[in-house]
Amino acid sequence: MSKKFALIGHRVPSHGKLNLNDLAGSCGRLDVLLRSLNSALFLSHGIRSDVEVILHLQGGEKPPRRIWIDGSKVRGIHSDDRSIAGHLSKILQSPLPPIGIKKEVQTGVFHGQGGLKETLEEWDNSEIDAFHLDLTGKKIDLIPKFKNNIGFVISDDKPFSDDEKNLLSRTKKISVGDQWIQGHSVISIIHYNMD
Ligand SMILES: C[S@@+](CC[C@H](N)C(=O)[O-])C[C@H]1O[C@@H](n2cnc3c(N)ncnc32)[C@H](O)[C@@H]1O
Repeated sequence: MSKKFALIGHRVPSHGKLNLNDLAGSCGRLDVLLRSLNSALFLSHGIRSDVEVILHLQGGEKPPRRIWIDGSKVRGIHSDDRSIAGHLSKILQSPLPPIGIKKEVQTGVFHGQGGLKETLEEWDNSEIDAFHLDLTGKKIDLIPKFKNNIGFVISDDKPFSDDEKNLLSRTKKISVGDQWIQGHSVISIIHYNMD
């Protein structure tokens, strides 16, 4: 069984050069997304081969971009926010592939068009059980064992927008406690729960 984490970067630019010295400010809280990426993908020494992270970069005027990092294939990536941001910056300076094309930019890292709507459709088509994380969801103590692969949608420092809430209404809403905590902590709880 594999786990997918769809991370929403509401203000992270989808195009252009990133300022690696200002991941929190001019990069639209990319720091928040990178902490979540780190928690989702990295073990103390190594990468979780059963995890795929999908970054949803929705900031700026240009169309949104998705970046997939496949833990079973990715090479040459380390648990270092600045270095990962460097990889992302290169991707963001390349043109978006045509609609429907998921283009590999380095081993195990892909980019393409689309947003949360497309991710949820793809999960539906692949019979992936979709959940979204929200304080007001059903409190989970233990995520049940699933036969299918499983996908989690987690926001950045901003709440899900109304459009996103609409899209997510057909997924299961789950909570990991009665306080808002940071997305990367939510992911660690999910891993703890499922490992
Ligand atoms: C820093 S929180 C965002 C808080 C923001 N005030 C909001 O209203 O969504 C980042 C994300 O982590 C997840 N999250 C945070 N606390 C949670 C909780 N207790 N249960 C489930 N998900 C949580 C949600 O996906 C949330 O959007």
